[in-house]
Amino acid sequence: MQFRKAWAVGFMLTCLSSTQALDVDLDDYETLQNATALVAKGLMDYYTGNQYGQTIGMFSWPYYWWEAGGAWNTLIDFWFYMKNDTYNSIVQQALVYQSGENHDYVPLNQSTTEGNDDQAFWGIAVLNAAERKFPNPPSDEPQWLYLAQAVFNTMAARWDSATCGGGLRWQIFTWNSGYDYKNTVSNGALFHIAARLAHFTGNNTYAEWAEKVYNWMSDVKLISSGDTKYVYDGVDITNNCSGAVHKYQWTYNQGLLMSGCAYLYKTNGQEKWYNRTEDFVKSSNVFYNNSILYEATCQPYNSCNTDQRSFRAYFTTMLAATAQLIPDLRDQIMGWINTTAQAAAQSCVGGYDGHTCGLNWQAKGWDGKYGLGEQMSALEALVVTQALKRPAPYNSTDGGNSTGNGAAGLEQAATNLNPLHITAGSRAGAGIITCVVGISIIASLLWLIL
Ligand SMILES: *[C@@H]1O[C@H](CO)[C@@H](O)[C@H](O)[C@H]1NC(C)=O
Ligand SMILES: *[C@@H]1O[C@H](CO)[C@@H](O)[C@H](O)[C@H]1NC(C)=O
Ligand SMILES: *[C@@H]1O[C@H](CO)[C@@H](O)[C@H](O)[C@H]1NC(C)=O
Ligand SMILES: *[C@@H]1O[C@H](CO)[C@@H](O)[C@H](O)[C@H]1NC(C)=O
Ligand SMILES: *[C@@H]1O[C@H](CO)[C@@H](O)[C@H](O)[C@H]1NC(C)=O
Ligand SMILES: *[C@@H]1O[C@H](CO)[C@@H](O)[C@H](O)[C@H]1NC(C)=O
Ligand SMILES: *[C@@H]1O[C@H](CO)[C@@H](O)[C@H](O)[C@H]1NC(C)=O
Ligand SMILES: *[C@@H]1O[C@H](CO)[C@@H](O)[C@H](O)[C@H]1NC(C)=O
Ligand SMILES: *[C@@H]1O[C@H](CO)[C@@H](O)[C@H](O)[C@H]1NC(C)=O
Ligand SMILES: *[C@@H]1O[C@H](CO)[C@@H](O)[C@H](O)[C@H]1NC(C)=O
Repeated sequence: MQFRKAWAVGFMLTCLSSTQALDVDLDDYETLQNATALVAKGLMDYYTGNQYGQTIGMFSWPYYWWEAGGAWNTLIDFWFYMKNDTYNSIVQQALVYQSGENHDYVPLNQSTTEGNDDQAFWGIAVLNAAERKFPNPPSDEPQWLYLAQAVFNTMAARWDSATCGGGLRWQIFTWNSGYDYKNTVSNGALFHIAARLAHFTGNNTYAEWAEKVYNWMSDVKLISSGDTKYVYDGVDITNNCSGAVHKYQWTYNQGLLMSGCAYLYKTNGQEKWYNRTEDFVKSSNVFYNNSILYEATCQPYNSCNTDQRSFRAYFTTMLAATAQLIPDLRDQIMGWINTTAQAAAQSCVGGYDGHTCGLNWQAKGWDGKYGLGEQMSALEALVVTQALKRPAPYNSTDGGNSTGNGAAGLEQAATNLNPLHITAGSRAGAGIITCVVGISIIASLLWLIL
């Protein structure tokens, strides 16, 4: 991995020369712009997609495809909150390129390993693009709204009533482990995307879907009952989901539910969505220690894996949207955001560049950890301090003008673009390759058995 080498060399240089620590003053926008520009640069140091032999839109090992979707979401926030468009063309290119042959974020290269949650995080990035009026792709490419609708439609089509009275399985494909697990990040993301599409388009079908997913998650106890609403990890489909719920709590699941409720409240004004948003904001306190955000299920045990190190980035962008959408909850949320931003900033003094961010923001200075997840989470923590100084998510009646199609993802070919890029031939080819992969998996299983 190239970065490690660069880092090692850089670290030696750091020992020889002194680097400048991050200078952050939340009340001085320009220092914040300068500081976040450094952190963003640190994030992009991990991006290799434009290098020879690498794939556009992806970060290389150990970062899975889904986390790239998350990283582009963070860079959209960087542009939106910090008014810095340096990376916009890279972000736009990445989001278009990885949308895949059918423009639904199931690109052929990922299609044998991708789960519902993986697809969802790219969907969330393009929703953010639509809601923030991030520059749309050229008109011969599908627009942000279209891509988000395609993710929603293809996920909703996988709703599985055959077991547990509904719900999405974690995995899309039967051969992946996790196919027998119905989890919160997949279902919570479907709920979340439906809620945001309801808000953006005003189409009530999405709100009905959001309600259906929420009710199902409550029924199988992925969301605990009562006012202290905790969000758990998932449940096995064995015995119709009546077994024990896996009770790990992750920040990103909390964020999906909390802000999804906020979008629905903003959209239809129903008190129950306000109450639920408030409950999820309150129960988010399990992720704060002295108002500093931490990943409670793994950080204290020093066991956060590569994926988990990025979870706080998604929670944070969703927390900020919640504050923008619901004024009554702003004091609590902005208190957390302010304190966490200061703590995250003081951790961004590591590495060869002197602005590599750490994992544990409660530690004094840099804790020696680094990676895409750490960098994304800290960048997000800093930019959302401007949440109340920038507009709330736009929708199609107050300025959001990205175009879509309710049938996106289910069509033979995308209709909101011209000329068409996809030919029937390339899709037939895709089918054949999937078959070949499937057959070779079966063949190797048989080989193992025999
Ligand atoms: C921000 O960076 C610019 C360009 O490097 C510099 O001119 C400016 O003085 C910096 N502003 C602050 C407040 O540090
Ligand atoms: C925008 O971000 C880039 C890359 O991080 C940085 O080089 C540039 O100075 C930033 N511009 C402003 C105006 O802050
Ligand atoms: C799929 O993988 C091939 C081979 O690595 C690469 O050339 C291509 O750009 C990839 N396409 C996408 C959409 O990732
Ligand atoms: C499985 O659970 C669902 C919802 O709780 C219920 O409607 C369905 O009848 C159950 N199926 C079986 C076979 O128990
Ligand atoms: C769109 O936003 C406007 C302004 O905040 C709001 O009045 C309207 O209800 C929103 N529409 C939907 C469908 O949420
Ligand atoms: C919302 O919460 C308030 C205060 O706890 C309560 O009075 C009201 O009945 C709740 N509304 C709904 C629809 O649950
Ligand atoms: C919470 O913060 C206190 C004070 O910094 C620290 O001693 C304690 O270990 C922290 N708890 C967790 C779970 O991180
Ligand atoms: C958060 O910080 C901003 C900028 O310093 C300040 O205006 C705001 O009052 C703070 N909010 C809370 C709740 O601490
Ligand atoms: C949407 O609005 C932006 C400005 O906010 C404008 O640049 C763009 O051309 C508009 N797009 C469409 C499709 O109207
Ligand atoms: C609303 O969304 C649903 C689901 O995508 C779609 O089938 C329907 O055509 C849409 N209705 C309108 C009026 O756009």
